[in-house]
Amino acid sequence: TKIDSGRVGWESPSNIALIKYWGKKENQIPANPSLSYTLNNCKTTTLLEFQKKTTKSDNFEFDLYFEGKQKDSFKPKIQQFFERIAKYSPFLKDYTFKISTENSFPHSSGIASSASGMSALALCVMSLEQKLNPEMNPEFFNRKASFLARLGSGSACRSIEGPLIEWGKHKSLSGSNDCYGIKYEEEVAEVFKSFQDTILLVDKGQKQVSSSVGHNLMHGHPYAQARFAQAHENLDQLKTVLASGNLQDFMEIVESEALSLHTMMMSSKPYFILMKPNTLEIINKIWAYRELTKTPVCFTLDAGANVHVLYPKKDAKKVLDFIKNKLIIYCEKEQYICDRVGTGAVEL
Ligand code: PMV
Repeated sequence: TKIDSGRVGWESPSNIALIKYWGKKENQIPANPSLSYTLNNCKTTTLLEFQKKTTKSDNFEFDLYFEGKQKDSFKPKIQQFFERIAKYSPFLKDYTFKISTENSFPHSSGIASSASGMSALALCVMSLEQKLNPEMNPEFFNRKASFLARLGSGSACRSIEGPLIEWGKHKSLSGSNDCYGIKYEEEVAEVFKSFQDTILLVDKGQKQVSSSVGHNLMHGHPYAQARFAQAHENLDQLKTVLASGNLQDFMEIVESEALSLHTMMMSSKPYFILMKPNTLEIINKIWAYRELTKTPVCFTLDAGANVHVLYPKKDAKKVLDFIKNKLIIYCEKEQYICDRVGTGAVEL
């Protein structure tokens, strides 16, 4: 099919890992499997306008707009992404692009926008491929979108669909593989289908250590092999817990995964700490509240200081009261984002 110009657009969410991906091999292949909740409200909207080049050239031509303004500082990341996916999407060099993107969450909130941003762009690339090849089947579309997103940012491959996504080969998950994320199709108890995630914005500053540097520090890390084995085992146990609905065990696995992730950072060479004093204040307050009220609320962490507070929908009112009364004093400008489990990206 001959397509001269047009536009495509996607809205794609962020995700929060329950079993963490930390450490990778060549070509963004994960060192261990991970499992994540797709979020609903934290998302990136991306429009890709394309125009066929009049003269052939061997480079990528694109302009980038972030929140309506031209943003050249983001271009190297996109350039690198295009270079990585070029052999799978060779048509990219036939067009000039205008990429317009915006996030639903506050700019530089410390919320990683790489998962939502890279997945939204990967989906746009796939929509263009679909215009060139209208026969493409929807399953192939999603898998290749996830595959391309992975090459942008590993965890982005878990943002195409929802509510639970697995990525990385694991012996007790058939179909699981290292190249793209797929829907978690095992049995899931009702309580886990409507989980809430309130993100407490503890530190909105730039991270001192990027996640790609962190992943690399897992090479030669003294605890790397034990950590990868632990992720496999925790995923196995989580599978049982997701089916049974056992909240106690769920909280234990999820919190342990978050702390293990940060343990790897603190024990790498060079070592670093991404948590802030207020991260620990919040964790201690959550533990005290849980002990006192028996409410099933737990935390998880990304590669940063912000805290994701996870809890069942039926407890939302009291947990939000607790958050407002006891936790937001630890947030920068008292900022937090109410989110919940979502179903994945939407075409515009
Ligand atoms: O996608 P990356 O390379 O930014 O890695 C992010 C990894 C964690 O967010 C720390 C964990 C995960 O599984 O999402």
